[in-house]
Amino acid sequence: MTDIISFADRVALVTGAAGNIGRAVVRMLAGHGVKVAATDFDRAKTEAVLAGVVGAGGVVRCYGADVTDRAQVESLYRAVMADFGKVDILINNAGVWENRDVIGCKRFETVKPEEWRRIFAINVGGVMNFSQVFLPQMATRGYGRIINLGSIAGEVGKPGYLDYSGAKAAVIRITQVMAMENAKRGITVNSVSPGMVAAGPVKKTTGTWIGREGTADEMARAIFFFAADESGFITGADLPVDGGRILGPHGDDM
Ligand SMILES: NC(=O)c1ccc[n+]([C@@H]2O[C@H](COP(=O)([O-])OP(=O)(O)OC[C@H]3O[C@@H](n4cnc5c(N)ncnc54)[C@H](O)[C@@H]3O)[C@@H](O)[C@H]2O)c1
Repeated sequence: MTDIISFADRVALVTGAAGNIGRAVVRMLAGHGVKVAATDFDRAKTEAVLAGVVGAGGVVRCYGADVTDRAQVESLYRAVMADFGKVDILINNAGVWENRDVIGCKRFETVKPEEWRRIFAINVGGVMNFSQVFLPQMATRGYGRIINLGSIAGEVGKPGYLDYSGAKAAVIRITQVMAMENAKRGITVNSVSPGMVAAGPVKKTTGTWIGREGTADEMARAIFFFAADESGFITGADLPVDGGRILGPHGDDM
């Protein structure tokens, strides 16, 4: 019987690695023998956040680059290739949103150009920059796994989040196009779309059918699944990991 999940001498690159979901992904991959290049804005911060992972025996090297800056991504590419020689698994996890649940809903006509440009530059531009720079060496070797972080706000529109919903919808559609264009080159491209992830203790909520927030580890497990060798017949898929939130209405109202 073959293993359900295996990583034969694989190297992964994780963006947004110092964040909530990113560090869970790094920990999970490194714990299963994957060599990990972990990158975020700030290399020193990423090293501090991931110190426990490296200490636990995983092979993790930290880097710093702004995902919106193509020159920085190309320089990072040279550093990662010098250290590891290849990247088999690319996890485009870096992303931002404005927390408008706290500051109040913002109608689409009031979103300033610099606000939506920034959200698109990071969420969409980051996926574009890293995929365009790291995909060709996957194509040359005929193997690759790319996992993009979408959001359930990209699957259906979320009022007050014109920029974030629009950007994450773009990520999910870009995922499909990349999947089709690269399917014959041994590269799969899928997206994982979280909803309501706890940044601290998990809170109960009527916002999901399961009745609580999700955890970063639960997001990481879905990413981990798409990253494995054995998921090679799945491409262009978007997987909501959201406790059923996307199914709305929620809670006890049925
Ligand atoms: N947390 C949620 O509820 C949720 C829901 C849906 C989707 N997502 C998506 O999941 C992904 C991870 O989210 P998270 O909850 O871990 O967020 P987080 O804020 O904890 O982590 C995001 C990381 O991305 C990094 N980053 C942001 N802009 C960057 C840039 N320009 N260059 C380099 N690094 C940059 C940040 O420094 C941070 O460490 C994001 O793409 C997010 O949109 C999260």
